[in-house]
Amino acid sequence: MKKTFVIAFVAAFALSLAGAAQAGNPSRDKILSDLKAQAGGDFSAQRGQTLFQSKFTGGKEDTPSCTSCHGNSPQTIGQTRAGKSIDPMAVSRTADRYTDIEKVEKWFGRNCNSVLGRACTAQEKGDFITFMSQQ
Ligand code: HEC
Repeated sequence: MKKTFVIAFVAAFALSLAGAAQAGNPSRDKILSDLKAQAGGDFSAQRGQTLFQSKFTGGKEDTPSCTSCHGNSPQTIGQTRAGKSIDPMAVSRTADRYTDIEKVEKWFGRNCNSVLGRACTAQEKGDFITFMSQQ
């Protein structure tokens, strides 16, 4: 009896984890749908990848790219200029990425300014999150 209960519990837990990995996250979905309303178009993971990997000249000299801090791949652990490690940007590696609107807005604000020398548009933010959600 007790054993059956434990097995059922473990199975339910495993299922809920699998569901969370596949079904996306309601907070992230809401952030994306709000961005989509602002952008007025569809998001592209391809454009998000280009934004992540491109080198820009409008921002600070020591951070020409998102990869300057976040590492060359969404799966890698990044590093701040001060040497503090940054969890991977890929949702498959860091499950709570892009689920807190204040955090998302704060860091897009800071980082787009450092790299591009301007704020990112709703389109760019949505493309970026769409790309990272598939990584
Ligand atoms: C100067 C270093 C640096 C650069 C360059 C940088 N970032 Fe970041 N980024 C950080 C740090 C530090 C954090 C906060 C720590 C964390 O979220 O793990 C962060 C967090 C973020 C977040 C919040 C993620 C979340 O969990 O909600 C987003 C979005 C983001 N960065 C986007 C970008 C984009 C887009 C670029 C390129 C245009 C970029 N970053 C370039 C350092 C950087």
